[in-house]
Amino acid sequence: MNSEQALIAIYPGSFDPLTVGHEDLARRTLIFADRVIVAVARRATHQKMLLFSVEERLEMLREVFAGEDRIECDTFDGLLVDFARARGARFVIRGLRAVSDFEYEFQMAQMNRELSNQIETLFLIPDLAYSFLSASLVREVASLGGDVSRFVSAPVLRRLNERFRR
Ligand code: PNS
Repeated sequence: MNSEQALIAIYPGSFDPLTVGHEDLARRTLIFADRVIVAVARRATHQKMLLFSVEERLEMLREVFAGEDRIECDTFDGLLVDFARARGARFVIRGLRAVSDFEYEFQMAQMNRELSNQIETLFLIPDLAYSFLSASLVREVASLGGDVSRFVSAPVLRRLNERFRR
Protein backbone atom coordinates (compact mmCIF):
# COMPACT_ATOMS: atom_id res chain seq x y z
CA MET A 1 0.00 0.00 0.00
CA ASN A 2 1.43 3.41 -0.85
CA SER A 3 1.22 6.34 1.50
CA GLU A 4 -1.65 7.91 -0.47
CA GLN A 5 -3.84 4.86 0.13
CA ALA A 6 -2.95 4.51 3.81
CA LEU A 7 -5.66 5.54 6.25
CA ILE A 8 -4.00 8.01 8.60
CA ALA A 9 -5.67 9.37 11.73
CA ILE A 10 -4.55 12.22 13.95
CA TYR A 11 -5.11 11.91 17.68
CA PRO A 12 -4.56 15.47 18.97
CA GLY A 13 -4.51 16.71 22.52
CA SER A 14 -2.64 18.41 25.31
CA PHE A 15 -1.46 15.10 26.84
CA ASP A 16 -0.30 16.87 30.01
CA PRO A 17 0.58 14.14 30.78
CA LEU A 18 -0.27 11.11 28.62
CA THR A 19 -2.44 8.68 30.61
CA VAL A 20 -3.18 5.00 30.02
CA GLY A 21 -6.62 6.15 28.85
CA HIS A 22 -4.97 8.14 26.03
CA GLU A 23 -2.78 5.15 25.22
CA ASP A 24 -5.86 2.93 25.00
CA LEU A 25 -7.46 5.29 22.45
CA ALA A 26 -4.32 5.58 20.32
CA ARG A 27 -4.05 1.78 20.11
CA ARG A 28 -7.78 1.33 19.50
CA THR A 29 -7.46 3.66 16.51
CA LEU A 30 -5.24 1.06 14.85
CA ILE A 31 -8.24 -1.29 14.63
CA PHE A 32 -9.36 0.71 11.60
CA ALA A 33 -6.48 3.06 10.70
CA ASP A 34 -3.15 2.07 9.18
CA ARG A 35 -1.30 4.73 11.15
CA VAL A 36 -2.07 7.16 13.94
CA ILE A 37 -0.22 10.37 14.63
CA VAL A 38 -0.51 11.30 18.30
CA ALA A 39 0.02 15.05 18.21
CA VAL A 40 0.65 17.47 21.06
CA ALA A 41 -0.96 20.85 20.36
CA ARG A 42 1.16 23.92 20.98
CA ARG A 43 -2.06 25.94 21.28
CA ALA A 44 -4.99 24.28 23.00
CA THR A 45 -8.51 25.69 22.76
CA HIS A 46 -8.89 25.77 26.54
CA GLN A 47 -5.65 27.19 27.91
CA LYS A 48 -4.75 25.39 31.10
CA MET A 49 -2.02 25.58 33.69
CA LEU A 50 0.44 23.20 32.11
CA LEU A 51 2.72 20.93 34.08
CA PHE A 52 5.07 19.80 31.29
CA SER A 53 6.48 21.67 28.32
CA VAL A 54 5.46 20.60 24.82
CA GLU A 55 8.92 19.05 24.34
CA GLU A 56 8.67 17.06 27.59
CA ARG A 57 5.21 15.81 26.61
CA LEU A 58 6.48 14.76 23.18
CA GLU A 59 9.42 12.94 24.76
CA MET A 60 7.08 11.01 27.06
CA LEU A 61 4.85 10.06 24.11
CA ARG A 62 7.85 8.83 22.15
CA GLU A 63 9.11 6.75 25.06
CA VAL A 64 5.71 5.20 25.74
CA PHE A 65 5.02 4.33 22.09
CA ALA A 66 8.60 3.35 21.22
CA GLY A 67 8.62 0.23 19.07
CA GLU A 68 4.98 0.64 17.97
CA ASP A 69 5.73 1.42 14.37
CA ARG A 70 2.17 2.39 13.37
CA ILE A 71 2.08 5.09 16.06
CA GLU A 72 3.93 8.31 15.32
CA CYS A 73 4.30 11.16 17.81
CA ASP A 74 4.60 14.80 16.87
CA THR A 75 3.65 18.33 17.85
CA PHE A 76 1.73 20.89 15.86
CA ASP A 77 1.23 24.61 15.86
CA GLY A 78 -1.73 26.44 14.38
CA LEU A 79 -4.96 24.82 13.31
CA LEU A 80 -5.53 21.12 13.71
CA VAL A 81 -7.25 20.89 10.31
CA ASP A 82 -4.17 22.40 8.61
CA PHE A 83 -1.89 19.92 10.35
CA ALA A 84 -4.19 17.03 9.38
CA ARG A 85 -4.23 18.14 5.75
CA ALA A 86 -0.45 18.57 5.68
CA ARG A 87 0.02 15.04 7.05
CA GLY A 88 -2.51 13.45 4.67
CA ALA A 89 -4.89 12.52 7.47
CA ARG A 90 -8.65 12.37 6.88
CA PHE A 91 -9.62 11.53 10.44
CA VAL A 92 -9.30 13.21 13.81
CA ILE A 93 -9.75 10.96 16.83
CA ARG A 94 -11.17 12.22 20.08
CA GLY A 95 -12.21 10.31 23.16
CA LEU A 96 -15.63 10.55 24.80
CA ARG A 97 -15.62 9.35 28.38
CA ALA A 98 -18.95 10.68 29.59
CA VAL A 99 -21.78 12.98 28.58
CA SER A 100 -19.89 15.82 30.26
CA ASP A 101 -17.27 15.66 27.49
CA PHE A 102 -19.86 16.02 24.79
CA GLU A 103 -20.47 19.78 24.57
CA TYR A 104 -16.79 20.72 24.26
CA GLU A 105 -16.13 17.94 21.78
CA PHE A 106 -19.22 18.73 19.72
CA GLN A 107 -18.24 22.41 19.44
CA MET A 108 -14.69 21.56 18.36
CA ALA A 109 -15.83 18.93 15.86
CA GLN A 110 -18.35 21.32 14.30
CA MET A 111 -15.83 24.15 14.14
CA ASN A 112 -13.28 21.84 12.54
CA ARG A 113 -15.89 20.79 9.98
CA GLU A 114 -16.57 24.47 9.19
CA LEU A 115 -12.84 24.93 8.68
CA SER A 116 -12.43 21.82 6.54
CA ASN A 117 -15.14 19.58 5.22
CA GLN A 118 -12.50 17.04 4.19
CA ILE A 119 -11.66 15.99 7.73
CA GLU A 120 -13.96 13.88 9.86
CA THR A 121 -13.88 13.69 13.65
CA LEU A 122 -14.36 10.18 15.01
CA PHE A 123 -15.18 9.66 18.67
CA LEU A 124 -13.91 6.58 20.44
CA ILE A 125 -15.00 5.39 23.86
CA PRO A 126 -12.14 4.28 26.10
CA ASP A 127 -12.14 1.07 28.08
CA LEU A 128 -14.59 1.33 30.99
CA ALA A 129 -11.64 1.04 33.38
CA TYR A 130 -10.44 4.46 32.17
CA SER A 131 -13.79 6.25 31.96
CA PHE A 132 -13.04 8.37 35.05
CA LEU A 133 -9.44 9.10 34.15
CA SER A 134 -8.18 12.53 33.07
CA ALA A 135 -4.78 14.15 32.79
CA SER A 136 -5.93 16.96 35.08
CA LEU A 137 -6.83 14.50 37.87
CA VAL A 138 -3.50 12.70 37.42
CA ARG A 139 -1.69 16.06 37.77
CA GLU A 140 -3.63 16.94 40.88
CA VAL A 141 -3.28 13.55 42.61
CA ALA A 142 0.42 13.35 41.78
CA SER A 143 1.04 16.89 43.02
CA LEU A 144 -0.61 16.00 46.34
CA GLY A 145 1.50 12.89 46.82
CA GLY A 146 -1.07 10.30 45.69
CA ASP A 147 -0.17 7.10 43.84
CA VAL A 148 -0.84 7.48 40.12
CA SER A 149 1.14 4.43 39.02
CA ARG A 150 -2.03 2.68 37.75
CA PHE A 151 -2.94 5.61 35.55
CA VAL A 152 0.27 6.37 33.64
CA SER A 153 3.08 4.37 32.05
CA ALA A 154 6.58 4.18 33.51
CA PRO A 155 8.17 7.07 31.52
CA VAL A 156 5.37 9.39 32.63
CA LEU A 157 5.49 8.20 36.23
CA ARG A 158 9.21 8.82 36.34
CA ARG A 159 8.77 12.42 35.19
CA LEU A 160 5.90 13.03 37.61
CA ASN A 161 8.06 11.72 40.46
CA GLU A 162 10.94 13.96 39.36
CA ARG A 163 8.62 16.96 39.06
CA PHE A 164 7.23 16.45 42.54
CA ARG A 165 10.60 15.24 43.91
CA ARG A 166 9.76 11.81 45.27
O1 PNS B 1 -6.51 17.61 25.21
P1 PNS B 1 -7.27 18.85 24.83
O2 PNS B 1 -6.63 20.06 25.47
O3 PNS B 1 -8.74 18.74 25.13
O4 PNS B 1 -7.11 18.99 23.24
C1 PNS B 1 -7.68 20.08 22.55
C2 PNS B 1 -7.06 20.24 21.15
C3 PNS B 1 -5.58 20.34 21.27
C4 PNS B 1 -7.41 19.02 20.31
C5 PNS B 1 -7.63 21.52 20.49
O5 PNS B 1 -7.47 22.58 21.37
C6 PNS B 1 -6.98 21.86 19.16
O6 PNS B 1 -7.24 21.21 18.17
N1 PNS B 1 -6.10 22.89 19.16
C7 PNS B 1 -5.37 23.29 17.96
C8 PNS B 1 -5.84 24.68 17.46
C9 PNS B 1 -7.12 24.55 16.70
O7 PNS B 1 -7.21 23.91 15.67
N2 PNS B 1 -8.17 25.21 17.24
C10 PNS B 1 -9.51 25.13 16.68
C11 PNS B 1 -10.18 23.89 17.22
S1 PNS B 1 -11.89 23.93 17.03
